[in-house]
Amino acid sequence: MHLDPLALHRQFPLLAKHIAGKPLAYLDNAATTQKPERVLETMKKFYEHQNGNINRGMHPMAEEATVLYESARKTVAHFMGARHAHEIIFTRNATESINLVARSFGETLEKDDTVALSLLEHHSNIVPWLQLSERKGIAIEWIGLDAHGRIDLDSLKKILKKGKMKLVAVAGLSNVLGVATPLQAIIEMTHAAGAKILIDAAQLIAHQSIDVQKLDCDFLAFSGHKIYGPTGIGVLYGKQELLERMPPFLGGGDMLESVDLLGFKPAELPRKFEAGTPAIADAVGLASAIEWMGEVGIEAMHAHTKELIGYARKALRSIPHVQILGPASGDDLLGCVSFTVTGIHPHDLTEILGREGICLRAGHHCAMPLHKHLGIPASTRLSVAAYNTEEEVDRCVNAILRARKLLYD
Ligand code: ALA
Repeated sequence: MHLDPLALHRQFPLLAKHIAGKPLAYLDNAATTQKPERVLETMKKFYEHQNGNINRGMHPMAEEATVLYESARKTVAHFMGARHAHEIIFTRNATESINLVARSFGETLEKDDTVALSLLEHHSNIVPWLQLSERKGIAIEWIGLDAHGRIDLDSLKKILKKGKMKLVAVAGLSNVLGVATPLQAIIEMTHAAGAKILIDAAQLIAHQSIDVQKLDCDFLAFSGHKIYGPTGIGVLYGKQELLERMPPFLGGGDMLESVDLLGFKPAELPRKFEAGTPAIADAVGLASAIEWMGEVGIEAMHAHTKELIGYARKALRSIPHVQILGPASGDDLLGCVSFTVTGIHPHDLTEILGREGICLRAGHHCAMPLHKHLGIPASTRLSVAAYNTEEEVDRCVNAILRARKLLYD
């Protein structure tokens, strides 16, 4: 099935916007994607006709909202190939999902137990483990990268041999280098060493189909807003037997079976991990985004973003003074490309391009250790979604050429 990005583009109200008379070229999709009319309508309908609090009332609105929320959970479970809907925990975002694992699974770890992270990680998959290290004295091992920026499996092998490894937590796709991780190999190596694996799929979820049962991962986290859904809704997948053994993360309403003055009994999955009123409309909005992707054709969307990022890499390579970070080529390059331009600070470049409606991201992209490893403080990132076109990439490339000319000619 071939995708028509312009037909998709028309389904996104925000993409009709102009900045200084120029159409928007939204190329910051690794930060967040725009939302199609379909998702916006679903959420409007929810608040206008279906709103109520879940699990707490016998009245029709509470019942309707509960049915929609649980149906959203089933949609997500089906989308990622989970065995049971109750293995899907709704959180606020991938960050909260990883924090949940660090706080809850982390509670079962002891001093000197080890967690391995890669140098590619986003701060969301670093800081919760540093906090756990401060709290419980766990050790952190860093999986190195090869000369191109790919995860070095030999480095992981050496770390696993040391023993005491309890969890390997890695990004499925780097939010800076746009290089996908060899998940199958890492998962097999990790399990052979008797450890568990967590995948931070915040970026991968938008560019590759994920089947958690086929992958056999123990935990997987992503955010709804990276796949055309609303902000404020995230997902943690966890294997039932692990989630059942883990203590609750947050305490409060709805996460318990019973409570008295001396203690409480946690509720069954998934409620044990969903204290307080959750983001009900956002979960329903996420399910709507997933259904919309299914109708467009998920594989066609992935094929389009892969082709387009290949096109962007080639176009950027043709600009003198541009240095692309990470591997020069490969079938594992998806979603985004980061680069520096000699003589122009990424913040200045992004600001200049922004003035004509071209939206890129500049900075360390919440990956300071990776930038330190690369020996640079910051970079500029271009990231694509299914609605982007080659024409938008061309506009961006021409604007970079003009910016360089403006500053140096
Ligand atoms: N994690 C998001 C990014 O890389 C915000 O831009």
